[in-house]
Amino acid sequence: MADIKNRLEIYEQQFFQELEAVEDASMLEELRIKHLSRQGALSELMATLKELPLEEKKVAGPLMNQLKEKAQEAFKRRETQLETEKIEAEQLKSTHFDVSAYSTPKMQGSLHPYTHVIQTVEDILMSMGFEIAEGPEVEDEYYNFEALNIPADHPARDMQDTFWLTLPGLLMRTHTSSVEIHTMLKKKPPIAIAVLGRAYRNEATDASHDFMFMQLEGLLVDKNISLANLFATMKTFLQTFFEQKDLQIRLRPSYFPFVEPGVEIDMSCPFCTTGCSTCKKTRWIEICGAGLVHPNVLKACVLDADTYSGFAFGFGLTRLVMLKYGITDIRLLHSNKIEFLQQF
Ligand code: DAH
Repeated sequence: MADIKNRLEIYEQQFFQELEAVEDASMLEELRIKHLSRQGALSELMATLKELPLEEKKVAGPLMNQLKEKAQEAFKRRETQLETEKIEAEQLKSTHFDVSAYSTPKMQGSLHPYTHVIQTVEDILMSMGFEIAEGPEVEDEYYNFEALNIPADHPARDMQDTFWLTLPGLLMRTHTSSVEIHTMLKKKPPIAIAVLGRAYRNEATDASHDFMFMQLEGLLVDKNISLANLFATMKTFLQTFFEQKDLQIRLRPSYFPFVEPGVEIDMSCPFCTTGCSTCKKTRWIEICGAGLVHPNVLKACVLDADTYSGFAFGFGLTRLVMLKYGITDIRLLHSNKIEFLQQF
């Protein structure tokens, strides 16, 4: 007797364990076939009743019926529960959506290499006390040439091929030096400005020339300004910009009508120690024109050339960008090619 009761208890335990593990309709159907169908485990158990002696049958019979009812009820309950869950899940799908389920690939923008360099240069020069100044790109020849000590008949005008406008005396500025004049006419020294802007030249385009490019102009006017100030300023600026503490510079005599003396500044190559293609194996790179502001320029701006002196420098900002990022064709910078721009 104890034996059959024991078997019923073990069976019941197993049945409910399996029922609990059911997660969906197909698992439930498997369970039904295994336990509750005609050839299922429960029917098999009931069949053993026949073999029992009469006394035991009397006790075991009702127990088995109870078990069968209990199992069937539990089965029904689980069935209803699974159906409700399914309906609820479907309703949820039609009223809510998972925003993270589909995502279109993100298009990430990036700053133009010009913007990176402009920000860096402005930060460095502002930290050194320079103000950022601007001026017009459509310029009067007075500001672009005359006040900069380049009179109409001066051969230096040929150094810069000019886009003249059809309106007499107007042109696209050939350099940012014109902003020096605008500033000095408006302000009294001490003056320390940096101009980062476009310049235009009527030139054929190739890998290193474009009809439009960017320049960086600097001007400092005060009392007792000498080439030593220019040297120190340029060295600090270049060391910071190229992130090289031991970068060296050297000045070579040169000629620009608006400075006297005029110099060309070379920097030691920041990209190699033994010579490379950027420095053409010389270890030096020609980087900017500069000099002490010509007395005629100060006079044109109504500044007393005996009291004041100043230095000025002019970089190809485009060239700085190309050097910093190893860009070898200027046309890429102005091309708007997305594959190129995505690298920055
Ligand atoms: N304006 C010159 C150019 O475009 C560059 C330059 C040279 C600017 C010497 C200066 C300077 O201020 O002192 O070629």
